[in-house]
Amino acid sequence: MSEETFPQIPKIAFAGPDSRESLSYRYWEPARVVLGKSMLEHLRPAVCYWHTFCWEGDDTFGSETFERPWHRDADPMVQAALKHDAAFELFEKLGIPFFTFHDRDLAPEAATLAESESWLAKLVERTQAAMARTGVKLLWGTANLFSHPRYAAGAATNPNPEVFACAASQVRRALEATHALGGSNYVLWGGREGYETLLNTDVGRELDQLGRFMSMVVEHKHRIGFSGTLLIEPKPMEPTKHQYDFDAAAVYAFLQRYDLVGEVKLNIEVNHATLAGHSFEHELAYAASVGLLGSVDANRGDPLLGWDTDQFPNSVEEMTLAIYTIVRAGGLGSGGFNFDAKLRRQSVDPVDLFAAHVEALDTLALGLLNAASLIEDGTLADRLSERYGDWQGELGRDILKGKLDLASLADLALAQDLDPQHRSGAQERLEQHVSRTATLR
Ligand code: XUL
Ligand code: CO
Repeated sequence: MSEETFPQIPKIAFAGPDSRESLSYRYWEPARVVLGKSMLEHLRPAVCYWHTFCWEGDDTFGSETFERPWHRDADPMVQAALKHDAAFELFEKLGIPFFTFHDRDLAPEAATLAESESWLAKLVERTQAAMARTGVKLLWGTANLFSHPRYAAGAATNPNPEVFACAASQVRRALEATHALGGSNYVLWGGREGYETLLNTDVGRELDQLGRFMSMVVEHKHRIGFSGTLLIEPKPMEPTKHQYDFDAAAVYAFLQRYDLVGEVKLNIEVNHATLAGHSFEHELAYAASVGLLGSVDANRGDPLLGWDTDQFPNSVEEMTLAIYTIVRAGGLGSGGFNFDAKLRRQSVDPVDLFAAHVEALDTLALGLLNAASLIEDGTLADRLSERYGDWQGELGRDILKGKLDLASLADLALAQDLDPQHRSGAQERLEQHVSRTATLR
């Protein structure tokens, strides 16, 4: 075993809700059974490779602030190996059971496609060994189809079919790497699949290209026998002004148009939902209602900033209601909660990296405990069934069964002189109930 990268950080343990120690869990107890399943089975939390290990703390105005030891070596493949070992040390010390990666997070881009593939294959071998040794699992893999200059005008939606082909070569290998590592899912985030101006963009053609690309990915998944779930991650803007995968509803329309329903689900990200003008909970509820709920990228935005700040989640209230929605929908299946979150660039100490994950995971764990209280108590579910109860009556059933057309329903309303009275939606009482049942902070 090589030397530790974080010798100052101990293995982080559960210490209970009264703990004041930053590097301790107050709520995350992976084996604790909640509503008949362990916390681990409900949440399946994952550390993301890109923000935690690849990003060096630069932003549009400032250079790198982090000075991570694994970035110091001049040889990019030595860097990749050091970064890899640091990553597995962090996963183990945090006791976080899953991770996620882009192909280019694991191994850097080389001078040619062929060399990039062979570098990736080398790192996949190293990862296989580390996973076998530690028991850490892969929640999902993905391909970076947005950093390289060739993708400036998109990958699958690029006006140049040769760029489409390069994207195909990357996704093929990233999907195969995910399969080799026993990944539970494979994510497609449409990095630059969108446009800046209609003056140079044919929207219909680009959507057809994207549809064709997704069908090719689906076909390859089946050909190699990958049994994980394919997930699209909606995002409304950034990096392009108009991203095609705007939100859950836009992706649902896309999947229907290109006959992909049943093959692809959604990875819903909190800060992407809010950028689309939705709440996280709305996106989850919509995805669940059309059978597309797949996985979650857990983070948060800043209400005063209109961009993707990717902060670590810390709102128990938001997570309580989100997890309530997820559990009521039957859970995430092969999905989980990936911390697609990054430190602020002033948080330069290694301990910041650990404390951020600890608090984020405790936020999820307490959210789950709260969601369980709301479910066991049953008041919210009872109020909901009560509210729609009349649809179980004869009129409601006849309407939904298609027994009445517009004219006969209109005649019925006239004949019965219908005069329905407005009923209270009781929002304040429901909010009060949530506050009183859940431990919000
Ligand atoms: C970008 C984003 C990505 C995806 C993976 O906003 O969320 O990190 O999660 O490509
Ligand atoms: Co994401």
